[in-house]
Amino acid sequence: MIVDTRRLWLRPVLPDDADLLVSLDADPLVMRYVSDGEPTSRAQIVDWTIPRARAEFAAHGTGIWTLIHKPTLEFAGWVALRRPRHGGRKRELELSYRVPRDLWGRGLATEASRAMLAAAFTAHPAERVFAGTAPSNTASRRVLEKIGMRTVAGAPDERADDVEYQILRHHWLLRDGTRRSGNPGGRHRLPDALHGS
Ligand SMILES: CC(C)(COP(=O)(O)OP(=O)(O)OC[C@H]1O[C@@H](n2cnc3c(N)ncnc32)[C@H](O)[C@@H]1OP(=O)(O)O)[C@@H](O)C(=O)NCCC(=O)NCCS
Repeated sequence: MIVDTRRLWLRPVLPDDADLLVSLDADPLVMRYVSDGEPTSRAQIVDWTIPRARAEFAAHGTGIWTLIHKPTLEFAGWVALRRPRHGGRKRELELSYRVPRDLWGRGLATEASRAMLAAAFTAHPAERVFAGTAPSNTASRRVLEKIGMRTVAGAPDERADDVEYQILRHHWLLRDGTRRSGNPGGRHRLPDALHGS
């Protein structure tokens, strides 16, 4: 499924994206709240991250979408909608995202995440979308708030490793269901160059 938003194309991650993902994760500021600044190894991205996302996409239509910035056709990070690894409740999906530092603050993570929420509740039968973030990751928390997600229980505990946000299907329908952003069920074709192999 290719998703088309105002400034982005979102397409399922490809093996050819490995260099882009490696360089994104080589920035200690990008990785600050993910791994205390540690880069992700190329082996992990090539042997685990991408194959797992592609297998998940083939089996369930979920996984990682590479973001392409339409005005420049440049890589703009990724957004993921994944089935939780722990199994969890059947109809829930986990949202996550990562954007290169030079593109921060332009609303791109919000735009991509909003489109993914629409996909979760229209192209998929999700009843709940959740996301975990470090309490001090203000940018990430702001993205989640802007797209209508709220902390799961009570006030977030600033000492916790992670604070969990969620949005339920019926909340999304009330909030955004009638003015869908993006084109989650879109059949838009990308220029061939963007498809890769
Ligand atoms: C989190 C991340 C994806 C946000 O991407 P982005 O494209 O810059 O996000 P947006 O521009 O859509 O929104 C960011 C919001 O946070 C705000 N923000 C950013 N840094 C902030 C800070 N230090 N304090 C307060 N607000 C901050 C921005 O002003 C913006 O809110 P606004 O629209 O109300 O002004 C990006 O910072 C990133 O890739 N971080 C590293 C990876 C990461 O932490 N991922 C999440 C792990 S759970």
